[in-house]
Amino acid sequence: MSNIGSYDERLGNFSWSISEKELGYKPGDVINIGWYCSDRVCQMGKASKLALIHEGFSGVERRYTYNDIRLASNTIGAFLRGLGIRNEDRVCLFMDKIPELYIGFLAILKIGAIAQPLFSAFGDESLYVRLSDAGTTAVITQKKHAPKIKKILERLPHLKHIIIVDHDGKTPLREREVAFSLTEAKPVETLEIFETKAESPSVFHYTSGTTGQPKGVRHVHYSLISQYLTAKWVLDLREDDIYWCTADPGWVTGTSYGIIAPFCLGITQCVLDAGFSAEAWYRFIEKYKITMWYSAPTAIRSLMKAGDEIVKRFDLSSLRHLASVGEPLNSEAVVWSQRVFGRPFLDTYWQTETGCIVISNYPGMEVRPGSMGKPFPGITAAILNPSTYEPHSSYGKIGLIGLRPGWPSMMRSYWNNEAAFQGKHRNGWYLTGDRARMDKDGYFWFVGRDDDVINTGGHLVSPFEVESALLSHPAVAESAVVSKPDPINLEVVKAFVSLKPGFEPSKDLELEIMNFIRKKLSPLAMPQEMAFFKSLPKTRSGKLVRRILHAKEWGEEIGDTSTLEDD
Ligand code: WT7
Repeated sequence: MSNIGSYDERLGNFSWSISEKELGYKPGDVINIGWYCSDRVCQMGKASKLALIHEGFSGVERRYTYNDIRLASNTIGAFLRGLGIRNEDRVCLFMDKIPELYIGFLAILKIGAIAQPLFSAFGDESLYVRLSDAGTTAVITQKKHAPKIKKILERLPHLKHIIIVDHDGKTPLREREVAFSLTEAKPVETLEIFETKAESPSVFHYTSGTTGQPKGVRHVHYSLISQYLTAKWVLDLREDDIYWCTADPGWVTGTSYGIIAPFCLGITQCVLDAGFSAEAWYRFIEKYKITMWYSAPTAIRSLMKAGDEIVKRFDLSSLRHLASVGEPLNSEAVVWSQRVFGRPFLDTYWQTETGCIVISNYPGMEVRPGSMGKPFPGITAAILNPSTYEPHSSYGKIGLIGLRPGWPSMMRSYWNNEAAFQGKHRNGWYLTGDRARMDKDGYFWFVGRDDDVINTGGHLVSPFEVESALLSHPAVAESAVVSKPDPINLEVVKAFVSLKPGFEPSKDLELEIMNFIRKKLSPLAMPQEMAFFKSLPKTRSGKLVRRILHAKEWGEEIGDTSTLEDD
């Protein structure tokens, strides 16, 4: 029997108090995610249970019990406090998937500060935009990433501390840098936990939109209530599970379900900090006897491409339950996983803003391959008419996915951007920015995004951010960025540019510009293809240029171009 039991019965008598009771929380109480994910688990008799098994890229393994996690997060917390970091200060985690990232996250929350995880492959400009917007006080990082921070340090006056977790003790520390070693620091047995309440801020995740720079999504400690229950009912996590969430905590899946959910449930999770290969992934599952695997469509498509034969070389019989998130999971992938793993990947749908799974397939419920499933009990989702923002009155019609605000892990605001937050709300609905349809049995079917944001391999890229970065290249006069279809990543970034006088298109220049973006922003944002134009189709709004270019890439009708400016 699965944790959720019957979906329909749960729907009938649902209340978030189910989760509050299981977590021993009463409205008005102190609620601190860092404490719930370590101290409380120990108090419940699981101090010596394994919390984290970590395998680094060189194959070195590190293991932590819940007591180790408790002590280590106390130790980092005390160190941060010693530096003068206080509640609500933003502390950025800018690291590969090393244990310090997972433990540091809990430490930041324990002292009431706000964790701001950023993907370690981000370049200096991506980093600058997010650290300056958040007014970040400290960054915890590795020495290999410190040079990127050094480059932008002058422009970040509020950034006081750069904490290096793997300093070799030899190279001199630079301006504002300080060394901290988890293995050498004296363990701190008791740390005074900051008394955060339900609405105290916990995590900032930056997410890309169509216009403007990325927005800081502000979450609060009360998010735990829905992260706990969705992990229990959708991911079906149980006491003896060995769980593997493949996401990087630089993105929300890696925090909500890669740190908070497994640790607050007191289960054992494994982390692999190495690049992707089908062989390495199957070996990892076999070695650690993974039972629950939460991954993403691009990875699943890459595994499909690697073929069925390779699967047979490994013993993957430990797998009990599989789930996926981040982009559309095509029905072929669901059918394939049923064939090769003996069970389907269950699609789950949510966003940085929602903080937890909001539409999903559930263990025990019929899976319709290609569908995202049904709303989580306690979440009201609808397909809205795009002109009236009223739910469509008949089934099968395409519309906007709207959610009724009010579940525990819904974002509380976009940091410093009330207008964008308001712009996402209409007629009492939160607008996800996605389009879908619902069948007569209430299953949701994803159609596409309702904006120009590019979803490449499950990672959102803002065309605006890439266009701005392109304009900072000395050869580029104008730029427009759209997605183009890709068999594995579904979409990749394509850039259209016109050049300044004195520059001629060439393969070398193309490669140079691509590399420029990779370094400044990230490998995800790097255009996979470029096209040079004498001048770009002129319009009053950049959005229309993108619409025309996008339609060409996808072989769609170009539509009305009457607002095109003649030149
Ligand atoms: C966007 C949110 C929260 C998980 C990581 C992504 C797309 C997410 C699905 C799915 C089709 C999906 C949507 C959504 N997306 N899950 N199951 N099927 N599309 O978080 O970076 O905030 O991206 O990812 O477009 O709005 P994110």
